[in-house]
Amino acid sequence: MNPFPAQDWPDDIFTEPEDVDPNTLANLGPLTRLAGIWEGRKGIDLNPKAEGPERRAFLERIELQPIDPQANGPQLLYGLRYHIHINTEEEDITFHDQVGYWSYEPATGLIMQSLTIPRGQAVLSAGRASEDGLSLKVAARRGETDYGIVSTAFLEHAFRTDSFELTITFNPDGSWSYISDTMLSVRGQAEPFRHRDRNTLVKVAEPTPNPLALIAAGKTG
Ligand code: HEM
Repeated sequence: MNPFPAQDWPDDIFTEPEDVDPNTLANLGPLTRLAGIWEGRKGIDLNPKAEGPERRAFLERIELQPIDPQANGPQLLYGLRYHIHINTEEEDITFHDQVGYWSYEPATGLIMQSLTIPRGQAVLSAGRASEDGLSLKVAARRGETDYGIVSTAFLEHAFRTDSFELTITFNPDGSWSYISDTMLSVRGQAEPFRHRDRNTLVKVAEPTPNPLALIAAGKTG
């Protein structure tokens, strides 16, 4: 699962890179096209219910805003902080809510998505962009200590989440589409359940440059 073998890491784990470009929007590599505020009106969710799989259409809004560069010792990451909010035509109540970060390591091509959802789950997934940069894929697996999944004790008991995989495709018209597959072992059911979500997002507003980029450009006090 770990795309970067341990032997590739430097001996000096403390020294941070110098002369870091403060402008995150210029250093996001394959994540560049995700920056901004997006809406999608054609989402489809397949979720587990007692009477069998439930298929629901949903409305989605995603804010993806650049954050200041982050260094883990020598590992330099550029990223986006995001918030996903989903509801449906039929009900005002939140159907799904999710916050997290997308990170990109220019030196290696590593892409990570860290996500948390309020039912009590956190995922750190990792992957790469395709060679043409037109798609990217991240994945995580329950039980892994690097790119893994943790859930509440009840979810572990009743709706165990075994794996998570997300594929994003950038479309020629500037929109992007995703397919997310969360594999669940539902208590009492013999077969794994593929909790699948998909949508296409259209940009409704441009991103706000990260705080350090604004300071460097003299645009804040
Ligand atoms: C667009 C994204 C998503 C939407 C719209 C969505 C929506 C839903 C809905 C409506 C349910 C049924 C809830 C209920 O019956 O109380 C559900 C169940 C569940 N979802 Fe998601 N989900 C999404 C993504 C995810 C992700 C990324 C994960 C984990 C990595 C996840 C984990 C679960 C689990 C474990 C359940 C079963 C728990 C339960 O039914 O109480 N979901 N989801």
